[in-house]
Amino acid sequence: MRPDMRVTLIIGGGIAAYKCLDLIRQLRALGVRVTPVLTRAATQFVTPMSVAALAGTQVHQDLFDLKDEAEMGHIQLSRASDLIVVAPATADLMAKMAGGHADDLASTLLLATDKPVLIAPAMNIRMWAHPATRRNLAMLQADGVQVIGPNSGDMACGEYGPGRMSEPAEIVAAIAARGTSGPLSGKRVLVTSGPTHEPIDPVRYIANRSSGAQGTAIASALRDLGAEVIFVTGPATIPAPQGVTLHRIETAREMLATCLAALPVDAAVMAAAVADWHIASDFTQKIKKGPQGIPELKLSENPDILATLCAHDQRPRLVVGFAAETEHVIAHATAKRARKGCDWIVANDVSPATGIMGGHENAVHLITDQGSEDWPRLPKTQVATRLAARIAQALA
Ligand code: CTP
Repeated sequence: MRPDMRVTLIIGGGIAAYKCLDLIRQLRALGVRVTPVLTRAATQFVTPMSVAALAGTQVHQDLFDLKDEAEMGHIQLSRASDLIVVAPATADLMAKMAGGHADDLASTLLLATDKPVLIAPAMNIRMWAHPATRRNLAMLQADGVQVIGPNSGDMACGEYGPGRMSEPAEIVAAIAARGTSGPLSGKRVLVTSGPTHEPIDPVRYIANRSSGAQGTAIASALRDLGAEVIFVTGPATIPAPQGVTLHRIETAREMLATCLAALPVDAAVMAAAVADWHIASDFTQKIKKGPQGIPELKLSENPDILATLCAHDQRPRLVVGFAAETEHVIAHATAKRARKGCDWIVANDVSPATGIMGGHENAVHLITDQGSEDWPRLPKTQVATRLAARIAQALA
């Protein structure tokens, strides 16, 4: 995402308006300048004070505000934006947009703008399903408005179904994907990260020492080059990056299903430390100590996510695997590249003495069809930047 991007955020009058406070926070954390516009109904759900405090700027509300019109009229608001985002886009706001109404600041701005518009609808499921809303939606899409969501789930009105506004991170990801002029803009990249947890019984699991630091850094670097990043992570110890579409999973089998559902993608970077095995038996209750003695745990092999993607008929154009080795790093990684059918392998020595697993630095070898390149020991963020640049070159 371009760090100086300017977004005008129109907050509509729905209960989901509260999520906009977090949306503003996440956008500002990425360096985006947010200019908030509140409809009259929105002020019933969030206060102009909290919105202004988070945005770090004045809130615009009134079409006929003399001070605003002198300093920052509705035309100027449009001119000073790279993108207009409407969240939540209520049924009423969508109807106004589709009908070309201009009876308040938000609708006038939307009618006057020549900038791209992204809306995040949120409403009761029956309002969403109503033929009038379907017509308005079709009209807005035909006018070139980008629509994100709504998601399905429990609604504030007590019903269940489509109508929940997309989560702030999803909206940020959609903004990041369209608001960048980087070399990866328009490209979708899948990144896996972190460990997987394989349950032994309802309270115990098998895990590994992966922190998720390298995968997270790669996802951020790809996002910064403009890619739409689908980030599938196991229970990592460091926070997930912002501005990506986030999927949290626990087991290898869940990770596989989530990766397959993300296809098609242009590239996949499989940085996760996937457990090779899961427990074969299905212990639905906690295993107890007792006269039956020490339990024997039978293991069963997990699916190989990387190999599955490489053999898939929607195989990404570029598939990058990792190889975590403790000896014969290059030889093992070269064999792994051939065995799994991926294009590149990022190989690293994860022996405890290197401090790489769970640490901040990484020393990697990039194995391609041209052989092996040795990269210097670098912070994981710099390894990520170099790798993202190589991915951009390969997809150009
Ligand atoms: N990987 C995967 N699915 C698995 C195991 C690994 O997708 N079930 C991926 C990892 O994300 C990584 C690559 O395969 O990109 C290699 O992982 P690694 O743990 O080094 O190799 P393994 O395949 O597990 O082989 P081994 O443990 O024998 O070294």
